Amino acid sequence: MSDNLKSPSILSAIEKLRFLLTKQEKIKWLGIVAFAIGSSLLEVVTASVIVIFAQVLNDPSAGQKYLLKVGYADYLSPGRTVFYIAVLVGAIYLAKNIVAGIEAFFQNFTIQKMNYQFKNKLLYRYAEADYAFYLTRNSSLGLAVIGGDAEQMFSSGMLSVAIILSESLIFICLLAMIIYMNPSLALIIFTIGAVLGLCIIKGLLPQFYRWGRLLQDASLLASQNLLQFFHGFKEIILLGKRDAFINAYQEQSRKKSRIQALQTATNTLPRLVIETVFIGIFVLTIAILCREHESPVQMIGILGGYLYVGFRLMPGLNRILNQINVLKGIIPSIERVYNEYNVVSVKEKYIDVPDFKFEKSITVQDATFSYPNAKKDALKEVSFKIQKGECIGIVGETGSGKSTLVDVFLGLLRPYKGSVLVDENYPVNSYQWHQKIGYVPQSIYLTDDAIEANIAFGEQEIDQARLNNAIDAAQLRKFIDQLPEGSKTIVGERGIRLSGGERQRISIARALYRCPEVLIFDEATSALDNDTEAKLMETINDISQNRTVIMIAHRLTTLKDCSRIVMMEKGQIKEITIYKNLQKDQVKNHA
Ligand SMILES: Nc1ncnc2c1ncn2[C@@H]1O[C@H](COP(=O)(O)OP(=O)(O)O)[C@@H](O)[C@H]1O
Ligand SMILES: [Mg+2]
Repeated sequence: MSDNLKSPSILSAIEKLRFLLTKQEKIKWLGIVAFAIGSSLLEVVTASVIVIFAQVLNDPSAGQKYLLKVGYADYLSPGRTVFYIAVLVGAIYLAKNIVAGIEAFFQNFTIQKMNYQFKNKLLYRYAEADYAFYLTRNSSLGLAVIGGDAEQMFSSGMLSVAIILSESLIFICLLAMIIYMNPSLALIIFTIGAVLGLCIIKGLLPQFYRWGRLLQDASLLASQNLLQFFHGFKEIILLGKRDAFINAYQEQSRKKSRIQALQTATNTLPRLVIETVFIGIFVLTIAILCREHESPVQMIGILGGYLYVGFRLMPGLNRILNQINVLKGIIPSIERVYNEYNVVSVKEKYIDVPDFKFEKSITVQDATFSYPNAKKDALKEVSFKIQKGECIGIVGETGSGKSTLVDVFLGLLRPYKGSVLVDENYPVNSYQWHQKIGYVPQSIYLTDDAIEANIAFGEQEIDQARLNNAIDAAQLRKFIDQLPEGSKTIVGERGIRLSGGERQRISIARALYRCPEVLIFDEATSALDNDTEAKLMETINDISQNRTVIMIAHRLTTLKDCSRIVMMEKGQIKEITIYKNLQKDQVKNHA
């Protein structure tokens, strides 16, 4: 992943941000920048007033001059002048801080709103991605992009750009002010700024980008290792591989900590250098002034400017340099969000079509499919037609392509050759087709929630009548009745508190709860005992009078009520037969 660590420019990152944000978001962000610039300008005004104040303390007649400039012609005593200017300082400070307070709220709320809205947008994009897309990926990446990168992009990246812009503006304004007051000081500051800036751009920035990339890789691996540790703990304990898994995590986590320490520690360096240089200049100036002026009081006017430079300009410069570093460290996150955003979009999406009625058949015609990165085709020129209302059984050795064929019917996998159509017309990769299907997968996914929530899966309002029917049909009634909390019992992560057969029956109930027109079972009864399976098949036959059923099964007896049986072999249909013949074949084979 970190093969190419050449540091891209900040401008290219800003270009990517521009691409990722909607027009509205860009306008809001400009609002943030405008606010930041506004409050920066107020800071410049504050700075000027402080300098004037210092001058007036030193020489009240200067105050009279300033008041004349703003149109105040009456004579004022020195005490009054100082008082008025002190009030002015107070008022401007008050205004500046009120604006700064409003800005902080506006800035943070706007950025955080953009943050969660963008993450939602990204999640919707993932939701539209092809199923095949997920087959090539590790879920840690999605977690890292939404939980980490997108978060970073907004809470640090967008603010960084705004801070860099507004602080640069203050810097320039204050510098202009100092050029006006004291050109030699301005020259010194400008030189310090330019030299430090160049050192950082040449020396530190590529480092910050590199660290950002390394941190990203280490974080991803660390969370992947952690997930694997928690998901696989049973095997890890039994195989005695505790240390191996913990060490794998520790290695990445150590790398992460080291990089984070480096980043944070290095980012304090500009401040230390700036401060040291500034104090050096300050002391030098005092030394020179002590020779020229007799009384230290006279120095206040001149040093006032220095003080403000010290308290505002130098920290400002420091902030600019820090934020540039931060931004550079976040570029890898911006890049990854950008890549993810685009990777998802190139895939074909599930589509919305006008709702249709399934009336005649599902047809696969010459379908050839291969998995991403796979050498051989998992399905080869498969042609098959299922009539509405039929019950089709699919048998074959493991790896013969049964699940793949079913996923093609489901519109999850798209053959690269051939077609799959409902009623010779409607696409299977449509939400409208999926609405008609109840599907029980080979590997069941249960959420850490109540049994009934797992059956109604994602529905807020559970329909009690449908729930009860599904529980009865899936042979779950006896099991649920003996639980103290009944259907409200929490199943644990991925259903860990249930037996394999119980999980399977919940998954079947989930499919039946939808009252679907088409039922698709992928080895859905493999974990059930013969008795339970027989009862289940009976109820399924009862309820599937007008339904189309596609059923992959290991036990042939499961398929005894199927109208036709498809035999798969090496990605092809070897034979289409009926149950009776199949039994004869099996008897022959065993003889
Ligand atoms: N995600 C995948 N990537 C690559 N190959 C896969 C993937 N899933 C399945 N396969 C391969 O495709 C073939 C058919 O798999 P599958 O349809 O699951 O078989 P069955 O359900 O009949 O046991 C097998 O050779 C399997 O190894
Ligand atoms: Mg399978």
